[in-house]
Amino acid sequence: MAARTRVGIAGTGSYVPERVVPNGEFEEFLDTSDEWIVQRTGIRERRYVTEGEATSDMAVAAGKRALEAAGLQASDLDLIICGTLTPDYLLPSAACLIQDQLGAEKAGAFDCNAACSGFLTAINTAEAFIAAGRAKRVLAIGAETLSRFLDKEDRSSCILFGDAAGAAVLTPLDECGQGEILDSTLGADGSGFEFIHMKAGGSRHPASPASVEEREHFIRLRGREVFRFAVHRMSSLIEQMLAGHDADELGLIVPHQVNRRIIDAALDRLGMTDEKVVVNIHKYANTSAASVPLAFDEAVRTGRAEKNKLIVMVAFGAGLTWGANLIRW
Ligand code: ACO
Repeated sequence: MAARTRVGIAGTGSYVPERVVPNGEFEEFLDTSDEWIVQRTGIRERRYVTEGEATSDMAVAAGKRALEAAGLQASDLDLIICGTLTPDYLLPSAACLIQDQLGAEKAGAFDCNAACSGFLTAINTAEAFIAAGRAKRVLAIGAETLSRFLDKEDRSSCILFGDAAGAAVLTPLDECGQGEILDSTLGADGSGFEFIHMKAGGSRHPASPASVEEREHFIRLRGREVFRFAVHRMSSLIEQMLAGHDADELGLIVPHQVNRRIIDAALDRLGMTDEKVVVNIHKYANTSAASVPLAFDEAVRTGRAEKNKLIVMVAFGAGLTWGANLIRW
């Protein structure tokens, strides 16, 4: 069997829309308060797209920044993988629109829908393609326009989410010399599909006047069940990724920005403090597949990602799905 190609992260990029939506805006039409949202979630504000802006537009902006950081052109790409649950259209994929807008003429393109684990699914798949010698330069993206799928009458869900995109360019390690992906994992448990789901618009419950009337095209979630699942999954994935490594090798943990209390509870289980954890949920809320690459890009650009230290990325979400990887930066 041929040796696997070692894979690195050549560059990262991200994009958030300009419109800032502070918690106070929800007080105008919902029985909620800034104080409740900050205390229960850690969220202070989020970003929403404006009229005419959609997932592929944000993904293209993030992708261009990642390519620039990698010193590559769109025409160098062999593959584009976009993790999203909110593509521009049900058909075709957002990745094809991104391929066209970037001018990545020799790249294949597909979406993966693993909800909040979408970027981990994209980056871990990208790594496998390069490791197997089936592609050389791959753009992995997580991008979401969640604001268009929120029920503004449901205070327990609509305050939680924001819009954003994040991206990473992967290449063989000998080409980029940084960010080697040492380990990765993906998992799923579809028996929990109703914990976070959107009932109508698919083949089981196609869109109809009744489905619109019943408000079935919005994200519904069972917050308490998700909370328990998320704490357990985040702590066990971090433990799994760091097994066999000394504590002082760890540089950063980049967790899915789901709820500040979930992150804190998972760290508590592991006996860790938040010193090495990237948290930006106060600024952007939960941006699903965009959450990890947005936080990761912020860490890279602000110099928090230290050379040769380990980085753990971890995410979990609807499906249920989960994913993690271990990187030596
Ligand atoms: N403002 C004021 N009160 C509220 C609000 C709000 N926005 N939302 C809920 N409440 C009320 C509830 O109605 C409830 O009132 P009651 O006791 O009179 O019934 C009370 O607050 C407590 O509700 P809980 O659901 O127990 O609140 P909790 O502390 O669990 O926080 C939350 C709810 C924030 C949703 C939390 O459970 C959570 O973060 N869950 C996980 C998030 C999630 O599911 N994300 C889905 C994305 S997928 C993923 O990223 C994993």
